[in-house]
Amino acid sequence: MRVVVLISGRGSNMEALLRAGLPVEFAAVISNKAEAKGLAVARELGVETAVVNHKDYPSREAYDAKLAEVIDGYGADLVCLAGFMRILSDGFVNRYAGRMINIHPSLLPAFTGLDTHARAIAAGVKLHGCTVHYVTPELDAGPIVVQAAVPVLEDDTPDSLGARVLEQEHRIYPLAVRWIAEGRVELSADGRARVRSNA
Ligand code: GRF
Repeated sequence: MRVVVLISGRGSNMEALLRAGLPVEFAAVISNKAEAKGLAVARELGVETAVVNHKDYPSREAYDAKLAEVIDGYGADLVCLAGFMRILSDGFVNRYAGRMINIHPSLLPAFTGLDTHARAIAAGVKLHGCTVHYVTPELDAGPIVVQAAVPVLEDDTPDSLGARVLEQEHRIYPLAVRWIAEGRVELSADGRARVRSNA
């Protein structure tokens, strides 16, 4: 299975994927920003990188068309969004239906969107976490593959809580890709992802 990872910044989830010894081939890491720190990390780990800068395209549709061309050029079977900070057009999302996953820093469906750690603290929830899900046109709403929960402590700040969640992100994103590569994840008609045990 050929995997392409899309990033915009630090790329710590991408690095966790690349270092996990997964039974996949990482064909490329693509960023919309040339300065994304993760690009150098990917190259050090021997993975090809590419930049498709959104500022070079007049519209979201034009950008997404170019991005799809580059992704398809790498023969991607699976696209992993890992801190890719772009809203994707419905056309792009539908093209990769069932072949594109994302990691989100909350226990979806709670706290879609940005600033999830601050919002979790403000809401007073006692459990927070992260989710790997398939990408569908509705933001942060696709079939859930795996989640991990962490406690929210009385003295947590968004940063301390975020660090606790990030550790779990680095654990469950590789797990989700492994399960998909092993053919154990099934998308059912009711819009859920079922993970078969490999026993
Ligand atoms: C992570 O918190 C991820 O859940 C969110 O964006 C952040 C990316 O961090 N989608 P990194 O670039 O993987 O370090």
